[in-house]
Amino acid sequence: MLNTAPRKILATSALPYANGAIHLGHLLEYIQTDIWVRFQKSRGHECHYVCADDAHGTAIMLRAEQEGITPEALIERVSREHQADFATFGVAFDNYHSTHSEENRYFSELIYTRLRDKGHIATRDIEQMYDPVKGLFLADRFIKGTCPSCKTDDQYGDNCEACGATYTPAELIDPVSAISGATPEVRSSTHYFFKLPDFADFMHGWINDGHVQPQIRNKLMEWFEAGFNEWDISRDAPYFGFEIPDAPGKYFYVWLDAPIGYLASFKNLCDREGIDFDSYWKRGSDAEVYHFIGKDIVYFHALFWPAMLHGADFRTPTAVNCHGFVTVNGAKMSKSRGTFIKAATYADHLNPEYLRYYFAAKLTSRVDDLDLNLEDFAARVNSDLVGKVVNIASRCAGFVKKLGSGRLSAHCAEPERVARFISAGDEIAEQFETREFGRAMRLVMELADEANTYIAEAEPWVLAKQEGREQEVLDICSVGINLFRQLMVYLAPVVPAMAEQARGFLRLESLDWHSRHELLLDHEIAKFKPLMTRVEKDRVDAMIEASKEDLVEEQKLKETPRGPLTEEPIAEEISFDDFIKVDLRIARIAKAEYVEGADKLLKLSLDLGGESRTVFSGIRAAYAPEALEGRLTVMVANLAPRKMRFGVSEGMVLASANDEGIYLLSPDSGAEPGQRVT
Ligand code: 2FM
Ligand code: ZN
Repeated sequence: MLNTAPRKILATSALPYANGAIHLGHLLEYIQTDIWVRFQKSRGHECHYVCADDAHGTAIMLRAEQEGITPEALIERVSREHQADFATFGVAFDNYHSTHSEENRYFSELIYTRLRDKGHIATRDIEQMYDPVKGLFLADRFIKGTCPSCKTDDQYGDNCEACGATYTPAELIDPVSAISGATPEVRSSTHYFFKLPDFADFMHGWINDGHVQPQIRNKLMEWFEAGFNEWDISRDAPYFGFEIPDAPGKYFYVWLDAPIGYLASFKNLCDREGIDFDSYWKRGSDAEVYHFIGKDIVYFHALFWPAMLHGADFRTPTAVNCHGFVTVNGAKMSKSRGTFIKAATYADHLNPEYLRYYFAAKLTSRVDDLDLNLEDFAARVNSDLVGKVVNIASRCAGFVKKLGSGRLSAHCAEPERVARFISAGDEIAEQFETREFGRAMRLVMELADEANTYIAEAEPWVLAKQEGREQEVLDICSVGINLFRQLMVYLAPVVPAMAEQARGFLRLESLDWHSRHELLLDHEIAKFKPLMTRVEKDRVDAMIEASKEDLVEEQKLKETPRGPLTEEPIAEEISFDDFIKVDLRIARIAKAEYVEGADKLLKLSLDLGGESRTVFSGIRAAYAPEALEGRLTVMVANLAPRKMRFGVSEGMVLASANDEGIYLLSPDSGAEPGQRVT
């Protein structure tokens, strides 16, 4: 049984960067958190949901410069856009703030000075690449060059997308600044470090104390066992952020003040609404604090952040709840395929509540990726929300209007059935509480099936044609409306706009969890209006097309458009004999797997029609493994095996790449594994 005593809860979602639009990948997290928060509020708990824009850092500074505006003007505009998108999707923050705020400056300085005064900050000189033209130090991702391992051009400063090698920018061949194109110089400067190793014992306890999901715990323990380095928390001017109090010209690294933004946004809310901040954040507080995040930012939230809070005498989070990534139709969201879908583009074509329901129906408490399969999306929403739930009300409302003048029966003809629907709320609540939203939705839809079966078997439309059975018809339909009301209580955290319309139709004050105990007897309802319409395939197609157009618009905005040939000139001429030496074969991808510890690679088991090969390929960014299995491609079959960090790669598959994606080559249908390609 769940604890029903009032709880004090603070929930957060990760703070989106203030230089880009919200897209469906972001929305998974905000929708997940919002559903959970709405559920807690429905249960009568004090629950606050705060967020903010993550407004600092080099990327935002450069973006503003590119647009010819100040960073302040950029973050102001983007904040407005973000908040409009969130409102469209029903994400109801209690406060939306900015990391570029006085509250955040205050807490960043406070946490830093407390850590410093306890000896947890170190300084030392480090050497870094410096762009002499722009006059700034370059983060690894702002340096490009040729991979020292496989010699592929145009690779970022920390790892190679083609072969998966990791290295330091200094190891790149012919490095250039991605900002100015200048050759970077190595320069030395003093940096400030947070001494994470000081917190090793604390971290070990925290990791193993139920604050993270089991999969995350295992990952954290791997990192723990590999040992922690001190964390570089400073950046040199010019930088858009907060200057470190005792260090002129040095700024807090954006990731230092980003999570502190959770405190800042909450403080801003507390000051506005008279909430006691300390009762949430002091050590030993009995309030609960939950951070919802994506799996890519675990290191910051589950290691640095608890250590910082602990070192600065604040309480640590109750839990960090981590989710996976969104894929669309089995593959990573891709701009060129039109599946990199912005929130605003989606909302131009489709009802945001469809997406809320679909995400809920597929969400678990685990860290697995969630696939938005657009056919399944339409089918599921149409079958569940429209076909099952709305159908109950639309089948019953007309008879209540006609036979009861809009008033439900004064007695309940199916008290046991209605009681079962009410008590099912306890189990559904457990599933919401533990973020097993998919299970909660399955339970709700089982109830919806039962309600529809009850109505179908009772056949009120047949009875309505028989004289003297009006009361019976009204009784059946009144049960139907009572069952519908229970379902809407359970669905309200997921589809709040639909629930609000249902509340109006039912003429109820509230659809809160507890309100369901009171039956609707001799109760007047309003005229029924369709609560949700079907997902139309042509609207989905139009959304994909519009997303492709978004890409065209973005490309037009790029400063220096470059064609594929100018980007990579055609290589030196070779003889036919050279070419024929390369043995290209059709290969069937028998199996595709993620490679532990390699963000870019997939391990492919290839079938060459009798012979098999294992190939590590840098295509993970574009393909989910299951989407590749069974597919034909082309491989270089006589390439000397190469030993990589993760195993031996016995060849290469052919693919092309640009800024938007990776494109694996496929033969026309009819080609057979093992056939030579010439
Ligand atoms: O990864 C990101 O998008 C970051 N802006 C998230 C920050 S979450 C928190 F730490 F502020
Ligand atoms: Zn490489």
